[in-house]
Amino acid sequence: MAEPACWDSSKILSSLLLRENSKLETSILNRETRAMSFIAEIDALKLTALAELKAAPDAAALEQTKGAWIGPNGKFTALMKQLGALPKEEKPAAGKAVNAAKVELEAALTVRREELELAAALPKEPTDFTLPGRRRALGKLHPLTQVTDDIVRAFRKIGFAVADGPEIEDEYHCFDALNTPADHPARDSQDTFYLGGGGGGKSMLLRTHTSSVQIRVMEKQPPPVRIIVPGRVYRRDNADATHNPTFQQIEGLYVDKNVTVGDLKGTVEFVFKELLGADVKLRFRPHYFSYTEPSFEIDFTSPMVRKMGKEWLELAGCGMVHPQVFENVGYDPEIWSGWAFGFGIERIAMLRYEINDIRLFYENDVRFLRQF
Ligand code: DAH
Repeated sequence: MAEPACWDSSKILSSLLLRENSKLETSILNRETRAMSFIAEIDALKLTALAELKAAPDAAALEQTKGAWIGPNGKFTALMKQLGALPKEEKPAAGKAVNAAKVELEAALTVRREELELAAALPKEPTDFTLPGRRRALGKLHPLTQVTDDIVRAFRKIGFAVADGPEIEDEYHCFDALNTPADHPARDSQDTFYLGGGGGGKSMLLRTHTSSVQIRVMEKQPPPVRIIVPGRVYRRDNADATHNPTFQQIEGLYVDKNVTVGDLKGTVEFVFKELLGADVKLRFRPHYFSYTEPSFEIDFTSPMVRKMGKEWLELAGCGMVHPQVFENVGYDPEIWSGWAFGFGIERIAMLRYEINDIRLFYENDVRFLRQF
């Protein structure tokens, strides 16, 4: 017979306690495994994400990988959202792990981004430093600039300085001060580009010649004067082979005591021989300009002119400065005398380079310009 059960209450209690304890332990264990598995999941995801970021072949792929993991709908972001569902006591450890992983992922993203940027900036093919260099094409001076520079150089040799003046001029400096009467055909609106009011009732215009700079220089300085003025001038001409509404001139002015026509001829001959060669011949033909008295036109001839079937070619206007012009700028014509001249630069360039159409200078076709 079985021994009547002899209940030892203390035993029962202890066994009960044991059971409770082990239940408690299991639940703690369960909870730990759960937390552990969450952290393990983070770790696993992180490792895959890191591998994918590192393997992204280019910037676009990298951005896509970034979106897939840590973008608003990324896998890693989704994991972070699960944090909220964890029991309170597990949150700190899991949160810490998630944040650490996120920092790691972002660092890996930056590193890969920099690597890819660097790779994209590198030359696709290796550089061969033994190849010959590539020369940069050098520009050239326009033929009109070259001719102007030569003329200026010739005059510098005999002591002339370069002066400058405005292309937008008033009627006084372009005409009145040069003793040009109000009814002179050059002032006609057919020939001159008028721009309208310049204030104080003055009419502004595009200068028709560089002679206006004679006045501007003499107004500013006392005699003696020895200047040349290269510059652009404008006339209402229709463009054809020998006319262009814009062209270039050179003006010369020499003022001193006892200046004669002999000085004028000697100077002009020296300069044109420098420019066009020693075999040119010049001719001074009486003419009329309102700012010189007497006035001349200079013609020239050379073997080339004769080859063109012409005897003489008209080159420049010149003369002895009119006493009225001196009066207008406050020089005493009893003490001072001088000469002046003006000519077109295109004409000289056309002769020198045998160019038959003035418009070529202004078309800026590099095939033309490259030849000079
Ligand atoms: N101004 C004149 C012209 O444009 C050229 C000229 C003639 C200039 C005689 C002068 C001169 O200085 O004395 O046609």
